[in-house]
Amino acid sequence: MRKQPDTIHIMNMNKRIPQQFIDDLMSRINIVDLINDFVPLRRSGSNHSACCPFHDEKTPSFTVSDSKQFYHCFGCGIHGTAVGFLMEYERMTFPEAIHELASRANLTVPNETNAENNPKSANLTPLYNLLEQVNEFYQQQLRKHSEASMAVSYLKNRGLSGAIAKKFNIGYAPEGWNNLLQHVGNTNANLLIEAGLSIKKEEKNHCYDRFRNRIMFPIRDTRGRVIGFGGRVLGNDTPKYLNSPETPIFHKGKELYGLFEARKADNHPDRLLVVEGYMDVVALAQYDIQYAVATLGTSATAQHMELLYRHTPEVVFCFDGDRAGIDAAWRALRQTLPTMKSGRQARFLFLPDGEDPDTLVRKEGKAAFEHRISTADSLSTYLFEHLSKNIDLSTLDGRARLAELAQAMIKEIPDGIFKSLLIQELTARTQVNPNTLSKNTRNEEPAAHRQQKSYSNQKEQKTQLTPMRKAIMFLIQNPQLAQHSLDISWLAEHKNTGAKVLLKLLEILHARPHLHTGGILELWSDKKEQQYLSQLACRDILTPETGIKIEFQGLLKLLQTEQQQEKNQALFNNPKPDFLTELSGLNYEERKEFMKTLAKTNKPYEG
Ligand code: UTP
Ligand code: MN
Repeated sequence: MRKQPDTIHIMNMNKRIPQQFIDDLMSRINIVDLINDFVPLRRSGSNHSACCPFHDEKTPSFTVSDSKQFYHCFGCGIHGTAVGFLMEYERMTFPEAIHELASRANLTVPNETNAENNPKSANLTPLYNLLEQVNEFYQQQLRKHSEASMAVSYLKNRGLSGAIAKKFNIGYAPEGWNNLLQHVGNTNANLLIEAGLSIKKEEKNHCYDRFRNRIMFPIRDTRGRVIGFGGRVLGNDTPKYLNSPETPIFHKGKELYGLFEARKADNHPDRLLVVEGYMDVVALAQYDIQYAVATLGTSATAQHMELLYRHTPEVVFCFDGDRAGIDAAWRALRQTLPTMKSGRQARFLFLPDGEDPDTLVRKEGKAAFEHRISTADSLSTYLFEHLSKNIDLSTLDGRARLAELAQAMIKEIPDGIFKSLLIQELTARTQVNPNTLSKNTRNEEPAAHRQQKSYSNQKEQKTQLTPMRKAIMFLIQNPQLAQHSLDISWLAEHKNTGAKVLLKLLEILHARPHLHTGGILELWSDKKEQQYLSQLACRDILTPETGIKIEFQGLLKLLQTEQQQEKNQALFNNPKPDFLTELSGLNYEERKEFMKTLAKTNKPYEG
């Protein structure tokens, strides 16, 4: 057997998860099953396909290959491995994606070295398990605790059905300072503190429950794992709501209450309604409006917007009609503008003063409430009306003022159809020359910021296929080809930059012939080469199946010839002394002839 090349060991060095484990994991996971859990796939030939979850389309151009363990959208160019899919679709970090895949494969991620130095790589499983356990406990307390009747009648008074309380796993945190510690045991005290469920006292080794005598709303991530809680007082104490603090698994600015439940009701809802409170989400769901989500006591962030638009093309913001609601709406609009790419829509719904979705849907029912949603202001109507509020549009000054204010806002929107439409509308409202407007509304977001987007989202650039790229493309899509090219030492001397990649690829595949395309790509997961390789992984090979091996071998021959010619040429240009000795036996004409043939030949000079 060949020795495993060193290159494998040095790859992924800065990663905490051992490469060997990732390899193993990649060979056990099936990308088709994985993606099918998020985006239902249909079989088409040897591939599986669906409408692309990353861009808006009517006919499916998103394909998942079982043999390559790789996905690719011919529409928007997005592509990647199972790990890449979770990172892109579920917005996971690399370690999160690995942990998710591992739990699907019933594997435990081995001890990650340096875990204690890097909180990001810490094993979060105990934290998730604890939150689930506490979630069970709170629900159980709502059924069993001696004072639970207070909590139950509070919920009843507010009109909640038992079924809806159960659906949202609503629970009760009883009075008392150490219920949780008693329930989960002293050994878990630090975990309780880390989870934000207990608060550490000044004196060491003491902690007490954060949530006491409150109705508990578990907050889940998009995969349904409990990551935090919101707790409401039963009476009029303050604060009315208490939320989990930021923890390693709970980030307020990223999470939306009710999104998991909304997705369960409909994986691709036509719209999502953003409301302010827990009770609003629950009441709407009780009235069969199952697409409401709530921010957690903050205004919507850009991260929230991205999360929302991953699941739906239209977001409707719902606000109370009071002053606070109007301010919150404007803040939400400001957050939304930079995320308004083509195909995304946003609308703004203002409820009558003194009402919130909870009270209103209970008063007027589903149909009337949904009528409000469907007649809510479009983003542009809201934008222009809000800006025009104290402006007299019958005067030239007034119209110039509106143009000025609106331009500053429109500038925030990425270039595209939506932006053009807004500029058109601004022209109509102000009669300002559209050319002036479009010049002043150009998106001047710094290039660096714009590029922050993941590479795979950009349509791939079709670079020219040199023999080197072609050989790599053949190999990455047909890893078994490596068996037909055992002598590769010459590649080490090849000058082309692609040669290093090809050599590494061949060495890896000689050591581990069973890697598939996705598994190979994960070896480069923290390297810039991954982009180059994955683009080659999704290009079409036009050669028929039967010709692939021959063509691949031809390509290697060609590359080897290229390399030999280069080497001989170098020798010719810059002769070494022993070479000169050999030549010294020849006369001038003979020498010239010898050198000429040498430069042309692809045989190495073996003198
Ligand atoms: P509201 O004060 O509008 O309450 O807070 P609500 O949702 O109508 O609650 P009910 O109907 O009285 O039960 C809206 C949201 O703001 C956050 C919570 O997320 C709440 O759902 N909030 C509110 C807090 O985080 N802390 C508070 O003290 C109050
Ligand atoms: Mn309310």
